[in-house]
Amino acid sequence: MKKNKIQALRGMKDQLPIDITCYQKIERILKQVINSYGFSKIRLPIVEKTSLFKRAIGSVTDVTEKEMYTFQDRNGESITLRPEGTAGCVRAGIEHGILYHQEQRLWYIGPMFRYERPQKGRYRQFYQVGAEVFGLKGPNIDAELILMTARCWKLLGISHYLRLELNSIGSLETRKKYHNILISFLRNHITLLDKDCKDRIYSNPLRILDSKNPHIQELLKDLPPLKDYLDIESSHHFLGLCDQLDIAGIPYHINQRLVRGLDYYNRTVFEWTTNSLGAQGTICSGGRYDDLVEELGGTSTPAVGFAIGLERLALLVRNFNSIPIPNQIIDVYLITKGEKQNNLGLILSEQLRDNIPDLKLIRNSCEGSLKKHFTHAMKLGARFVIIINKDTEGAEELILKDFLNNTQKNIEKTNACSILTTLLRMHLTTHDISI
Ligand code: HAM
Repeated sequence: MKKNKIQALRGMKDQLPIDITCYQKIERILKQVINSYGFSKIRLPIVEKTSLFKRAIGSVTDVTEKEMYTFQDRNGESITLRPEGTAGCVRAGIEHGILYHQEQRLWYIGPMFRYERPQKGRYRQFYQVGAEVFGLKGPNIDAELILMTARCWKLLGISHYLRLELNSIGSLETRKKYHNILISFLRNHITLLDKDCKDRIYSNPLRILDSKNPHIQELLKDLPPLKDYLDIESSHHFLGLCDQLDIAGIPYHINQRLVRGLDYYNRTVFEWTTNSLGAQGTICSGGRYDDLVEELGGTSTPAVGFAIGLERLALLVRNFNSIPIPNQIIDVYLITKGEKQNNLGLILSEQLRDNIPDLKLIRNSCEGSLKKHFTHAMKLGARFVIIINKDTEGAEELILKDFLNNTQKNIEKTNACSILTTLLRMHLTTHDISI
């Protein structure tokens, strides 16, 4: 009897070879840009103590209240699959003493886990590329991070579809003051609030500002804006950031309602959003978190960062075919017919791999028709097929077929390796090999 198939968990997506070429191309561009701004890569554990996220993200946030994958390990300790990268990065920085009294620019890539309702662009396991800067408190670095992301969008050909939303939520004291204003305003309109807002009114009233409910947004029009309560330093910081973006020619939209869903932010918060992906249009988000290092037990260190959601970015790139995605998995397909020819093929392919380390080559002995192999080679995107066959006198014969120019020629056997090496090297310098 046929057994039941086991399927992937809801919201956990497989990335098949056909997807991977797109992801690798995007990741290569992001990495190139991030490196060019002087960042070093850090690799962090996927699981951390639950208390880390509760303390960093805030215990009254959607992420910690509803979305974390939290388990007990065999020792009874509560551990959590990371829902984001900032908390782990700060924890590691403090633990290894690499934040104190120094400037640190770190970036990471990897899966994050949130138990959210899956839909297009929203998954329970998703990938982020994140960047965090420690030790710099002025607005220059906020601007530089935004410029870095803008450069990524330019190279990915998607600048036209993205819009930068910017806000300042001020200092902790600013927010405390504003909380009181907000609470008394909301209490005066309590009958008009939805359940979500009522739940948040005392625990996290600021989050009500970015409620998706249009009635709430209408109601909030009468609320005095947070910017009127900003502390003087935060106002200067924000003006400094806006100035720098103006100088660099980066358009932005100040969104007074942008407060972000994680509690660690202060001053600058930003999001890059698109209208082209439906409800899940935030591609990248971040901001300042000057109090988090101290909150997690380190010495007070200013910090700012962002994370890009890779699945959403890939959806956007694919939506607009904004960069060429290579469909080429190999360069050369080598076919041999006969045992002696097979041995020659083995030696030749290893020599070619020695000579050209970037070469992507598949070797196959010819079972079935040559036509079948040609079709396979084309499907893998090969430009060349090398056929090692027997000629009419029984000697080996080497043929090079070029799919691109639709030509075919015999290669002299004694010099085959050096002739092919020169030819293939020439080909490899003219196409994108390092996907
Ligand atoms: P976040 O806004 O929670 O911020 O997530 C960053 C990005 O991850 C989002 O803009 C979105 O593109 C993507 N993302 C979030 N949740 C999902 C999901 N369920 N499925 C697919 N993509 C998703 C943070 O995580 C902060 N740690 C960013 C940061 C770094 N702030 C300062 N430094």
